[in-house]
Amino acid sequence: MIERFSVKIKGKSVSILKGEDRKVFYIHSSGSDAKQWRYQLEKIGGYSIDLPNHGKSEGSEITSIDDYAYYVNEAIKLTCKSAVIVGHSLGGAIAQKFYLNYPERCLGLVLVGTGARLRVLPEILENLKVSPENAIDKILEMGFYEKTGHYEETKKKYLKNRDVLYLDLSLCDKFDLLDGYRDGRITIDAPTLIIVGREDKLTPVKYAEFFKNHIPNSELIIIDDAGHMVMLEKPEEFNSALSSFLTKILS
Ligand code: COA
Repeated sequence: MIERFSVKIKGKSVSILKGEDRKVFYIHSSGSDAKQWRYQLEKIGGYSIDLPNHGKSEGSEITSIDDYAYYVNEAIKLTCKSAVIVGHSLGGAIAQKFYLNYPERCLGLVLVGTGARLRVLPEILENLKVSPENAIDKILEMGFYEKTGHYEETKKKYLKNRDVLYLDLSLCDKFDLLDGYRDGRITIDAPTLIIVGREDKLTPVKYAEFFKNHIPNSELIIIDDAGHMVMLEKPEEFNSALSSFLTKILS
């Protein structure tokens, strides 16, 4: 069973979905919310946050990926204390910052459809301001392998949250740890699972391979017939990869 509760961080309500009590903490992508991880909460358990300004969480001033990592750290302090962090896209950028800023709470990393740099197509960012529906169609076309119910549901969510989607994608566009990994200023020692859909056009397989080549204790799983939204598009394959990893880390 999945339950919802909230915690107070800096006086603001932050909403969290919880499955079975496990040290797993999920972070959603740009303009999305905690429900993005429903298939994982149902079968694997753990905690999934509605980041500030998303889902049922209250609004807060966010100006950087580090700000989001701060909220994640506070939420983990108030729930499972430490966790394997599972982050998708923007959430994967937050997961990397969480590891770098609060390594003592990070038991492992699962980097899903994300990258060490997350530049965004200029036409998407520009159009989100002037012609949001076109921009959102472009994101969805690039984001999903197939047009399923998840596609339409995500479209509604993005249209409703277009301002926060713009903020999130602007933060992604500035996120850049690529040279840090390359020249060794950034090292990740935590056990890391990298998951990507083979057909991901927003964060291509090349980004995942970069992680594999720069994170020593890492394993890469590429899931066929899936795009960027791999946890929704191929939940069984995704959960199988995540479960095997968690068995090694948390047992
Ligand atoms: N991991 C590994 N390599 C990366 C990388 C990452 N996270 N991000 C960029 N690179 C590589 C690129 O592949 C490229 O390599 P190349 O020169 O061998 O071709 C190089 O670094 C420069 O890439 P980038 O910084 O992205 O600049 P660009 O001017 O080539 O392209 C975009 C800019 C926006 C067109 C491109 O980043 C893109 O298509 N992004 C995906 C679409 C998108 O909007 N995604 C949203 C992510 S939230």
